[in-house]
Amino acid sequence: MKIFVVGSLNMDLVIKAPYMPENGVTMHGEGFMTNPGGKGANQAAAIGKLGGEVYMVGCVGEAFGDELKTTLCKYGVHTRYVDKLKGVSSGIAVIVVVDGDNRIILDAGANGKVDAALIDKALASAERGDYLVTQLEIEQDMVAYALKSAKEKGMTTILNPAPAAKVSEEILANSDFFIPNQSEAEFYTGIYPKDEASAQACAKALAAQGVKNVVITMGGEGSACVCDGNYEKVDCFPAQAIDTTAAGDTYVGALVTKLAEGASMREAMIFASKASSITVTRRGAQQSIPYRNEVDTL
Ligand code: RIB
Repeated sequence: MKIFVVGSLNMDLVIKAPYMPENGVTMHGEGFMTNPGGKGANQAAAIGKLGGEVYMVGCVGEAFGDELKTTLCKYGVHTRYVDKLKGVSSGIAVIVVVDGDNRIILDAGANGKVDAALIDKALASAERGDYLVTQLEIEQDMVAYALKSAKEKGMTTILNPAPAAKVSEEILANSDFFIPNQSEAEFYTGIYPKDEASAQACAKALAAQGVKNVVITMGGEGSACVCDGNYEKVDCFPAQAIDTTAAGDTYVGALVTKLAEGASMREAMIFASKASSITVTRRGAQQSIPYRNEVDTL
C-alpha cells in the first residue's frame, strides 16, 4: 500500500527556556538548533523511518527548501511531489521548549501554496486501498480537496486536525480516521479526554458531527479509539520525556504504517505508542523519530 501525506514542511527554530517570558521581557535560553519539521513532513518521515512506502505532497521555498527535501529522502520518503517555489520562504516554526513541553509559532510560507494541481499530480499514481494522511497546516480548502479526491479514488483517509481549527462538514465526512490530541479533541467537543468515560464522550460528540472513527492521543494517559463502534485503550509506554515535539506526528505516522501493513487497530495503537515513547526521549522533530528496528526491539 502506498501512503500519501499531503501537508506542511517546516524548518523548526528551537530554543530551550527555563520558563515562558512575560510581555516585554528579554531572557536567556539555551541549546538553539534548527531541524526539519512540519506536521506533514514529520508524519511522512515517521512512515519512511518505520518502513512504509510514503510520498510527501507539499511545497518548500528557497530558504531551507533543499535541506527539507534532502532530509525526507534520507528517511526513505519519496519527494517527487514536493515542489520548490521561487520568491517564498519555506514554512517556519519557532519553537520554545519549557520543561520538555513546547509552544510553537508558525509562518506557513510555501505551505500556503499547495494547490489542487499538485494534489492531482500526486494522486494520479494512487490506487484503491492506498492511504492519504493530512493535517491543518496547509490551506483548508486544499485539505478538503485532498480528502475528497482520495475518497473518490477509494483510498483510506486520515485527518490529524492540528493545529485545531474549525473545519467543514465535508472535511469530517471525507475523513475515515480523525486523530486529535487532548487539546484538539477538547476544541472540537468541549470535553477534555483523559479516561474511558471522557474519551467515549468525545468520540460520541465527534460522531454527532459526522466523524467516523476517532483515535485520541492522550500523552501520559495513553491513547484511546472508538472505531466501528468498538472502544480500545492502550497505555503509554514509560519514558523520560525531554522534548515532546513530533510525538503526535510519530503516533499518526506509525499508526498508519501498521494499518497499511494489515495490522489490527489495537496492534497499530501499541506500535504507535511505542514509537512516540521513543520520540519524546530525544530533542527535535524528524531527527527524534525512531527507526523500525528501535520500535520492534523496545
Ligand atoms: O508537530 C510538531 C511540528 O509542529 C513541528 O515540527 C513544527 O514544525 C510544527 O509544524
